[in-house]
Amino acid sequence: MQAFASAAARAVLAGVDGVMIHAAHGYLIHEFLSPLSNQRTDAYGGSFDKRLRFAVEVMAAVKQAVPADFPVGIRVSATDWLDGGWQLQDTLELLRRAEALGLSFADISTGGLLPCPIKVAPGYQLPFAAQAKQQLGLKILGVGLITNAFQAETALQLEACDFVDIGRAVLSDPLFGWHAARDLGVELNQVPFSKSFACTR
Ligand SMILES: Cc1cc2nc3c(=O)[nH]c(=O)nc-3n(C[C@H](O)[C@H](O)[C@H](O)COP(=O)(O)O)c2cc1C
Repeated sequence: MQAFASAAARAVLAGVDGVMIHAAHGYLIHEFLSPLSNQRTDAYGGSFDKRLRFAVEVMAAVKQAVPADFPVGIRVSATDWLDGGWQLQDTLELLRRAEALGLSFADISTGGLLPCPIKVAPGYQLPFAAQAKQQLGLKILGVGLITNAFQAETALQLEACDFVDIGRAVLSDPLFGWHAARDLGVELNQVPFSKSFACTR
């Protein structure tokens, strides 16, 4: 966990505005959390609390490595989408501990540990984000097949999340933010490249 803390300290020195601990998608922390991957018999495996231990220690170490008011968040897979795996209720308990440790936001994704049957549809992960938003004081990021400004705005209006992550839609349209502003009728005092830009697509 020292490596996570050192990375966060370097991020502060580099001048970033916040850090997000990656505990999703089958990466190391997720492997500790899920009973499907954590087969340990020591203090870091077995019971729910023992599987959470590494994540809790990383969060505490990162918080200690950055200024008190520096935003620290966590990215989670809310479910493994598999019987006997990591589930939403587990995620909510992890996030309660994150909040108690002073983290300020959580990004709610799913899956990534093992091949699993995901019914992918627009906004398919937002119900998990909505549960987290309802039950916790953390700021919640929603993500997953959010592909246009109206869909993103609706997620915010319905209070499914506090922020929206856009992945592939931004890869396909790097000016997504400006196009979204135009679609939602938001006036920007700065447009990229030229005044005529806002009419092109
Ligand atoms: C090419 C590609 C690379 C990605 N790399 C990462 C990554 O390194 N870390 C991560 O947390 N998620 C990664 N993701 C997942 C995205 O952050 C996001 O959760 C996912 O694409 C769903 O959002 P979207 O439907 O808006 O793309 C990646 C997705 C794509 C398509």
